[in-house]
Amino acid sequence: MSDGKTIESVMEEVRRFPPSKEFSEKAYIKSMEQYREMYRQSIEDPEGFWGKIASEELHWFSKWTNLHSWDKENAIIKWFEGGKLNVSYNCLDRHLENGRKNKAAIIWQGENEDEVKTYTYQQLHTEVCRFANVLRSLGVKKGDRVSIYLPMIPELAIAMLACARIGAIHSIVFGGFSSESLKDRIADCGSKILITADGNHRGSKFVPLKANADVALEKGTSIEKVIVVNRAGAECPMEPGRDIWWHEEMAKADRSCEPVWCDAEDPLFILYTSGSTGKPKGVVHTTAGYLLGTCITFKYVFDYHENDTYWCTADIGWITGHSYIVYGPLCAGATTLMFEGIPTYPQVDRFWNIIEKFKVNIFYTAPTAIRSLMREGEKWPQSRDLSSLRVLGSVGEPINPEAWMWFHKYVGNERCPIVDTWWQTETGSLMITPLPGAITTKPGSATLPFFGVVPEVVKDDGTKAGVNEGGYLCITRPWPAIMRTVWGQHERFKEIYWTRFPGKYFTGDSARCDEDGYYWIMGRVDDVIKVSGHRIGAAEVESALVSHHAVAEAAIVPVPHPIKGEAIYAFVTLKAGVEETDQLRKELIAHVRREVGPIATPEVIQFCPGMPKTRSGKIMRRILRKVATGTAEELGDTSTLADPGIVDVLIQGSKALHRK
Ligand code: PRX
Repeated sequence: MSDGKTIESVMEEVRRFPPSKEFSEKAYIKSMEQYREMYRQSIEDPEGFWGKIASEELHWFSKWTNLHSWDKENAIIKWFEGGKLNVSYNCLDRHLENGRKNKAAIIWQGENEDEVKTYTYQQLHTEVCRFANVLRSLGVKKGDRVSIYLPMIPELAIAMLACARIGAIHSIVFGGFSSESLKDRIADCGSKILITADGNHRGSKFVPLKANADVALEKGTSIEKVIVVNRAGAECPMEPGRDIWWHEEMAKADRSCEPVWCDAEDPLFILYTSGSTGKPKGVVHTTAGYLLGTCITFKYVFDYHENDTYWCTADIGWITGHSYIVYGPLCAGATTLMFEGIPTYPQVDRFWNIIEKFKVNIFYTAPTAIRSLMREGEKWPQSRDLSSLRVLGSVGEPINPEAWMWFHKYVGNERCPIVDTWWQTETGSLMITPLPGAITTKPGSATLPFFGVVPEVVKDDGTKAGVNEGGYLCITRPWPAIMRTVWGQHERFKEIYWTRFPGKYFTGDSARCDEDGYYWIMGRVDDVIKVSGHRIGAAEVESALVSHHAVAEAAIVPVPHPIKGEAIYAFVTLKAGVEETDQLRKELIAHVRREVGPIATPEVIQFCPGMPKTRSGKIMRRILRKVATGTAEELGDTSTLADPGIVDVLIQGSKALHRK
């Protein structure tokens, strides 16, 4: 692909699943005609369409003056300019007046079965106000950055909403990231507060979050105070003057806190994500467009109704958790379930157990989880009562039709529509997705664009690809929840997303559009690897490997994996005189885990005397991918390589590894 080849699409799926009449009748969007009509309006009259929805769905302190502007040349995008609002007010205060005061906002299920906490909207409001006052007492003001490194506990959602209440910008770092990753993310945004916990259990393992955080802060950072939640009751050294306990500060805090009215375009949060080059970039989402985008997609795509219990299994450390555990559901006044644990602990029916226990109606998860539970057999979901389920959702990577069918049959009991939602950290909200009461699904396709979204599949030269012809997936105009910039690096934003195909947002994905206008996502075209749906930048893992004293050069590529979707295959050239041993392999794996985090663990490390490079010195990853996947016979032309002989050496090396 990056070598100028066209993208071949080999998938053909003929099964169709239309919505049932019974479902459609009760749904917000009831038919294909209604979808088409609303879609047409959203494209032809965005002012009218979004203006109406924004007035109906959000509370405004003062209304916007300019609905939307887009300076194409400078990639400056604005929505609802001049409007003022507060995200926590929208997610909490207004529900206290509209009959939802005593409704469960968050139901939290801890890793241990008997640990459950429920926060009504009133209770959550109180906690958020108190914590907002704690932040204020520490000198946090509008626009300040607050880093959050927490497990999936209610304090995480409370901290986010408290930041939003006072206009502070949160930057959440997934608890599975290493100290190094945390350190980089703190340094990039210059946050002055870090919120973490003593530690947490994941299955049988203990994650020492505070100890990790201490390492990240060792060499001096912008952090002035560390607020520590006592989650595990673990041994936890506290640095006097810097570290303070969450519960002690909360005990002193007042219960009322006036919200700060923010501008529609004020940043709400930064979330770091990996790309093909350099360090992770701080994706910036702003206030009004993001909130509206997550709220309206949540309502229409999951077809949320007032008494539904909704559960998204993602971690809040990723965009899915930001948008579809916290902001979208709470803005819509929903009951959102938050789960601290993992799908396989204490045993492999944990998801089904929770669905049965809370009578979950809407269940949103990832293909990797479905595949791993599918492997355990259908007896597990079949032994639980899953009849409460109404809508199923999938996100993070393409869902293979086999997993789709299993989900449909054994979890949805052939009754529940599946919404396969395509979107990204950068897009903020769902982009290409079925509407469960309106759109017939095809297993493996994310189907059709949401309102206001205009996708286009283009060829290498920027012209539109034909029907079923693979190409690069672009979006031709901004939508409300699109990221606005890369924190502190607007040029990078322009370059990464708006330059490859001028005037269009380039997603980094390949896709095809079929004869019915349905989109089929084929995967990444850059050097991003999707391990269990998590986005890993090749550059980060490579630089971690190269930072090891034994390594001269490293390149990583994805290989298909039955559960994880993709796994990391690393080619490593050692420094002269270093011996290639299994012990060193283990050491390198441990090194990557320390530097980036366990999610970036290489599956395979192949030592090689050199890399396949062009004469200008560029590593040809296309060749490495073929070697790693054992398809080197399809290599094609290798005459542009500086040393074509290296290919055979790599193939032999790979075969030897497979024989092991
Ligand atoms: O490659 C696409 C894949 O995940 C990428 C975005 O990753 P991230 O920013 O981590 O966000 C994940 C959660 C939204 C996309 O560029 N992806 C996401 N959802 C799908 C998908 N690929 C196929 N089908 C999906 N439903």
